[in-house]
Amino acid sequence: MRTQVVIIGSGPAGLLLGQLLHKSGIDTIILEQKPKDYVLGRIRAGVLEQGTVALIEEAGAGVRLRHEGLIHDGTEIEFGGIRHRIDFKGLTGKSVIIYGQTEVTRDLMDVREACGAPTVYEALDVGIHDIESESPSVRWSADGKKFAIDCDYVVGCDGFHGVSRQTIPATRLQTYERAYPFGWLGILVEKPPVSEELIYVNHERGFALCSMRSRTRSRYYLQCPIEEHAEDWTDDRFWEELTRRLDPQAVSKLQTGPSIEKSLAPLRSFVAEPMRFGRLFLAGDAAHIVPPTGAKGLNLAASDVGILSRALIERYKTNSDAGLDSYSQRALARIWKAERFSWQMTQLLHLVPDASGFDRKLQVAGLEYLFKSTAAQTALAENYVGLPY
Ligand code: APR
Ligand code: PHB
Repeated sequence: MRTQVVIIGSGPAGLLLGQLLHKSGIDTIILEQKPKDYVLGRIRAGVLEQGTVALIEEAGAGVRLRHEGLIHDGTEIEFGGIRHRIDFKGLTGKSVIIYGQTEVTRDLMDVREACGAPTVYEALDVGIHDIESESPSVRWSADGKKFAIDCDYVVGCDGFHGVSRQTIPATRLQTYERAYPFGWLGILVEKPPVSEELIYVNHERGFALCSMRSRTRSRYYLQCPIEEHAEDWTDDRFWEELTRRLDPQAVSKLQTGPSIEKSLAPLRSFVAEPMRFGRLFLAGDAAHIVPPTGAKGLNLAASDVGILSRALIERYKTNSDAGLDSYSQRALARIWKAERFSWQMTQLLHLVPDASGFDRKLQVAGLEYLFKSTAAQTALAENYVGLPY
């Protein structure tokens, strides 16, 4: 079999790339190791930059997002029981849209099926071959049979644990990493959100976040030690701890209930360079991870795909490799700024165990400067709504 571009992974990065290339008449096949329902069952974040929304709409999957997405012109940061609003719209002219990553994935899967572009779910033992040649190939097994396909390019959209990055010889890859000594315990609940906008809380008992998926479904997070497990936390214990970290007004409005999902995620910053090796390109979590504090994970995957899709379309339309040759450097320039912002937000808002008195004082000074300085608020807002591609 032969196609033009093989995409490994049917997460938001792989699906968005598949549709943007399909729209330009470029053939793709997506190979996904998990069943479709498993991919749709993963609960992830849901803050979309305008650039991400524009790409999803360009891919033809923006109808439900426009109808159900919540436009947020700002967010609140709480410290010492006082909430301070960061006015994205006023400071940058831009907003973000709250719409679950699961819904984005579902919408992209629907348009891919509707246009008949192929996705192989439960494609096991995916192997990428001859990536330094002019005609790489990818092999996999499914239903006990072995398959192989030749192509021009392979794009690894297979996340942090995928096969693609591992295909690049270690001697040709540089990785940068920062692990954090705490995690986020998140729950999803079918109750109206506690506030119109998100509330990021720096509290002496640890970070907390009040977020939402819709006007009837809310998402809450608590910073907790990395050694703990979601099973250690009953719903009651979660609500009791959340109310201890929120201001009285929020507590009075908080509607609690049984969690429909509960999970604990470690926080990590990670970047792999370069994002290209021969005819293999990496996009999304396959090349970089950000802690969720800056809401950048999905948006970085989208910007990678935005830059790479234009480069592939240029290659097939004009035979020029210029875009492909500059993809890694251009994507990494934006990625490192988002890594820096996500690390800064994490430092600013979390209780860092064993932090020295000096570090704690710096954190408080950073918060007080933020709340008093329009320049500092503009910098935060500019990064939160999304830096240019
Ligand atoms: N073969 C085939 N598919 C694979 C393989 C493999 N060896 N390894 C992983 N996959 C699939 C996974 O099952 C998953 O469905 O690749 C997909 C990767 O999807 P994501 O992890 O969602 O990564 P990405 O599309 O880059 O999206 C990044 O996801 O984790 C969030 O915060 C992150 O929002 C960001 C977004
Ligand atoms: C979420 O809604 O899941 C969410 C929102 C903002 C973040 C992280 C997660 O920074």
